[in-house]
Amino acid sequence: MPLLKFVIFILSLLPFAWYGWGAWHDTLGANPIEAVTRGMGTWTLNFLLITLAVTPLRKLTGWHAALRLRRMLGLFTFFYAVLHLTSYLWFDQFFDWGEIARDILDRPFITVGMAAFVLLIPLAATSSNFAIRKLGGRRWQALHRTVYAIGILAVLHYSWLVKADQSQPLLYGGILVVLLGLRAWWREVERREQLAGKYQPKIRNRIIPIQPRR
Ligand code: HEM
Repeated sequence: MPLLKFVIFILSLLPFAWYGWGAWHDTLGANPIEAVTRGMGTWTLNFLLITLAVTPLRKLTGWHAALRLRRMLGLFTFFYAVLHLTSYLWFDQFFDWGEIARDILDRPFITVGMAAFVLLIPLAATSSNFAIRKLGGRRWQALHRTVYAIGILAVLHYSWLVKADQSQPLLYGGILVVLLGLRAWWREVERREQLAGKYQPKIRNRIIPIQPRR
């Protein structure tokens, strides 16, 4: 697992390296600023969906160790979101806070993008073992369920900013529906099993790793 984690860590940095290299060597096309903002936005959404895919992957394959990758993937979502937002604040708006406030109020796709970003902050801030211990497993899990709302806001953000061809936002939306639908389905099955008295608590509620220190 440490080797796999390291490989995924390096792979996750590749989009950053690619856009950094492109910006430095001026190979990002006629509008490099737009290319960087859009590229970082796309990778924020990619990592969000990859993070949301970890639980279904674990359930469908029985590969429980996949959970150990989830925190890192979630933090990469936040990393790319910060770069995406920074690129917008800096290169699009030149840190003109009045203009930025107007943009957030006037353009619905910016409003929902900003909402998604704000909701990501507490998730990134509580990703450490210390925060999990402090909050307690149940409260931590309840807080981290806002990731589902973030997914919906992120797809809306994409769909509302695209003017004509909705194929990409629809593709992302479809993947999100499958990922959230599977969870809803499994929850319903568990609820029914519980009602029928067949329910055995599974690994689902285990947060890795929080072994209390003795
Ligand atoms: C979780 C948060 C966010 C996600 C997942 C996200 C995702 C995306 C995606 C997928 C794109 C389109 C990329 C493409 O066209 O290929 C995009 C574009 C964009 N996003 Fe975000 N975004 C987020 C937050 C924000 C925030 C907070 C802002 C600014 C306040 C913002 C501003 C923009 C802008 C200005 C564009 C480019 C629009 C254009 O070129 O017409 N996004 N974002």
